[in-house]
Amino acid sequence: MEKFDKKAIDARLAQGFPLEHRWHNRFHLEMPFGLINDPNGLTYHEGAYHIFYQWNPLGCEHKNKCWAHVKTRDFVHYTRPELSLWPDDVHDKDGCYSGCGLSEKGHLRVLYTCNRKEGSVRIPAQRLGTLQEDGSVRKDEIIIPDHPEGITGHFRDPFLFSRHGRRYLVIGAQRAENETGTVLVYEEREGSWYNLGEVHTRLGDFGYMWECPNLLQFGNYDVLVFCPQGLEAREYDRQNIYQAGYIAGHLSLDSMDMMQHTKFQELDRGFDFYAPQVFEHEGRHLLLGWMGMPDKDDDYPSKEKGWMYSLTLPRELRLRQGHIYSRPARELRDLRIQESAVEIDKSEVSSLSQTLFDGSEILLEIELGQAKQIEVMLNYGLERLSFQYDRVQQVMVINRDDMKRGGRGQRKFKLFVDQSLSLQLFVDKTAVEAFFQHGEEAASLLVFPEKNIQPELEIQTDVSLASVTGKVWALDSFKYQLNS
Ligand code: FRU
Repeated sequence: MEKFDKKAIDARLAQGFPLEHRWHNRFHLEMPFGLINDPNGLTYHEGAYHIFYQWNPLGCEHKNKCWAHVKTRDFVHYTRPELSLWPDDVHDKDGCYSGCGLSEKGHLRVLYTCNRKEGSVRIPAQRLGTLQEDGSVRKDEIIIPDHPEGITGHFRDPFLFSRHGRRYLVIGAQRAENETGTVLVYEEREGSWYNLGEVHTRLGDFGYMWECPNLLQFGNYDVLVFCPQGLEAREYDRQNIYQAGYIAGHLSLDSMDMMQHTKFQELDRGFDFYAPQVFEHEGRHLLLGWMGMPDKDDDYPSKEKGWMYSLTLPRELRLRQGHIYSRPARELRDLRIQESAVEIDKSEVSSLSQTLFDGSEILLEIELGQAKQIEVMLNYGLERLSFQYDRVQQVMVINRDDMKRGGRGQRKFKLFVDQSLSLQLFVDKTAVEAFFQHGEEAASLLVFPEKNIQPELEIQTDVSLASVTGKVWALDSFKYQLNS
């Protein structure tokens, strides 16, 4: 049998849904077997959002990288995932790496990096493909056969964007001269692609590789999203092994300068977020990220069960004064069942607790009054995930130290709160996504509770709060249908 037998793998997937293990999330995309990572090829095409993602269907290692595919119109109902693109020729024999998608003349096309290694030499090629009726991607022409001069074999993850009717790519790269990260821009002219060189930023030596770039437009601003590797952790940021963030400015496609750009800011403050990609559709920017982290596989005990990682919920991005705000896409409100099932509305509280549903969304407005220390906790029996806010320091700490299995530790970031702390939490079986101050910051993380129990929400403070208002909704699961 072939290594990647689409029929056999799809049949195995069909048996794997609905996902049953207690660590499997209900409203996050994930697979019954294998390892998934970066979202790829995000495209709105003929009335539906197409989502591809990296997938090793053969095991929980970072190899055999294929693309899986699902389609949704509303981010609630999805086609059942299927195998769409897999390594089967000399160019991509070591993996169909990340890339983007485009809707072109009635076809959904993808552009991906063919990963090929000959001994220690990498020969990355960028290749187009076309999604076919049977759900597989037909491999078409290679548009960039290898890395250009001055760049090492770390050259991957093409992302297509248009300006003034012309098409361009950004591609993640490493400079040969000093092994530092950068991105290159290519321009299409009459069907061929020309290297316009690096985007010039003021970041200087900023890690050894930049992966997964996206070049987005928000009004007059250009936003370069990328994932630098090799930055040192600091007290209030860059605390994961690798980062996912952006700079906002104005990109000149003549000088290649990113002019007047902001500092590098992270898109997410949690433990488990990397390699995001954005759909730009009807003026909206919808982001999906990978809930996972390269080179940290030991933090994810679902590996023992034969699958690893999830994608985030779709988030809508807005740029305000050089900062990206991210909020859960409005479509997710349709997941709410048992509408407003529980109301929290108490004043003079210094401690409050409430049992959650098997999948919840929590919206809290906490009027701090005189309180200086506030802790919002999710208790899983004796295990605990907590959000600890120190109003004097203006620091939020996410603490997973009281979880027994999986990744632990803390993540700290600055958060300015005046009178009222706003928190929106999506609590799935293992995936938790938090939005602070109406999207000013977001955090994605996974917890692997030992017991299959509904978590309890608890709030503790040093001094009584002025008030807590909020709601808790039970959330429905994603619905997977037969592919049509
Ligand atoms: C980021 C990444 C990409 C690469 C892909 C391979 O997580 O390393 O740079 O294309 O994953 O799976």
